[in-house]
Amino acid sequence: MHFPTATTVLALVFLHTPSTLAQCEAPVPCQDPVLNALQSSDCQTYHAFLARGSDSGYPGHLGSLIRLVCETLTGNPHPDTDPDASDVSCGYENIVYPANSTYAGQEMWCLSAAKGANAGQLQMKEYAERCPQSKLILLGFSQGGSVALDVLGGGGGPAFECVQADNPAMDPETSPGSNIVAAAIFGAVRRTANQPYTVKGGKDYNGTDPRNGTQLDGLNAFADKGLLREWCNIGDPICAVGSSPVDVEQHLNYFKLYDQEAAQWLVRTATGNETVVVSVTSSRVPTKTPTGTKTGAARATATGRGGADGGADTQGNQVQDKEGGAGAVAAMGYIVVGIVGMVVALL
Ligand SMILES: *[C@@H]1O[C@H](CO)[C@@H](O)[C@H](O)[C@H]1NC(C)=O
Ligand SMILES: *[C@@H]1O[C@H](CO)[C@@H](O)[C@H](O)[C@H]1NC(C)=O
Ligand SMILES: *[C@@H]1O[C@H](CO)[C@@H](O)[C@H](O)[C@H]1NC(C)=O
Ligand SMILES: *[C@@H]1O[C@H](CO)[C@@H](O)[C@H](O)[C@H]1NC(C)=O
Repeated sequence: MHFPTATTVLALVFLHTPSTLAQCEAPVPCQDPVLNALQSSDCQTYHAFLARGSDSGYPGHLGSLIRLVCETLTGNPHPDTDPDASDVSCGYENIVYPANSTYAGQEMWCLSAAKGANAGQLQMKEYAERCPQSKLILLGFSQGGSVALDVLGGGGGPAFECVQADNPAMDPETSPGSNIVAAAIFGAVRRTANQPYTVKGGKDYNGTDPRNGTQLDGLNAFADKGLLREWCNIGDPICAVGSSPVDVEQHLNYFKLYDQEAAQWLVRTATGNETVVVSVTSSRVPTKTPTGTKTGAARATATGRGGADGGADTQGNQVQDKEGGAGAVAAMGYIVVGIVGMVVALL
């Protein structure tokens, strides 16, 4: 039995931080009426599929980004008060999957990600059949980033301490693949270094596990059409394993850092209009501070190793004692969740 010490518990990872952005990542119903109004199953000009990160509520960290994208595409910053300002419609649906972390059990991450990949492909297929004129956008963060890559390029294989079931790639030349106009991925778990579609300093590092050649071919079929971009920060312990200095914040700050540039890339790619400029102001209206810290919104990693490789063992939204002692770690996890909850509440 391996008991984490106080120092090893320093490797805290929590996916939910208070924010003035409309991110709705806490595992409670999203309270942002503007964001909620964008959720739709209607046939829309632009329709996004969102794959949230582990243990997040819907729509998760991607909320502020899709809001900015839709506001720009419709030219309508306040669709709740002025719904007729544009004949271009834009909205999203969530890819319905559990987003369990390995904190829920050793096999859970893989079971969850495989469900996400299958659900994402099925939802896109059904939507594209019903709404063949709609232009599809795919967004994913963290586990959801991995799921979104699985949806496009095919998924499956080892991840963390489990093996994810296979799913086939999507064909970019036939529906629903041919209906996709842009896909943006942030901090993905399973990813491979040195791909042409990756931006930022984590580009040269593998994620928690790499993708194999078949899966990369599947992704590059979309990237070759200019439709895929992936953001990975240096120091992100999930998407850029081995990069330093390790900083969990580098996994959590994608939308704070890149909402505007990602929205601009998405809108320009989706419309083919290279002169569209995204203004970040519309999305940055103050919203209520998320209250998710009460509901176990924090997660911690306690590896029992501590010191220099404590960071390298940090696996973001999952908690796993690689050497066993799951009970002790679970107990410690709950304590740490409480501590982080307090810290978060103070921020
Ligand atoms: C997995 O996620 C679902 C929904 O997000 C949640 O209801 C369930 O309790 C999670 N499973 C475990 C074992 O934690
Ligand atoms: C890549 O992984 C997938 C999923 O596990 C598998 O179906 C495929 O055969 C693998 N391809 C290669 C070249 O190993
Ligand atoms: C990434 O993983 C691939 C496949 O296992 C491996 O060949 C490559 O050396 C790794 N690259 C880095 C930078 O770790
Ligand atoms: C492209 O975007 C610019 C800036 O929003 C706009 O003025 C222009 O009309 C657009 N071009 C086309 C062809 O839609």
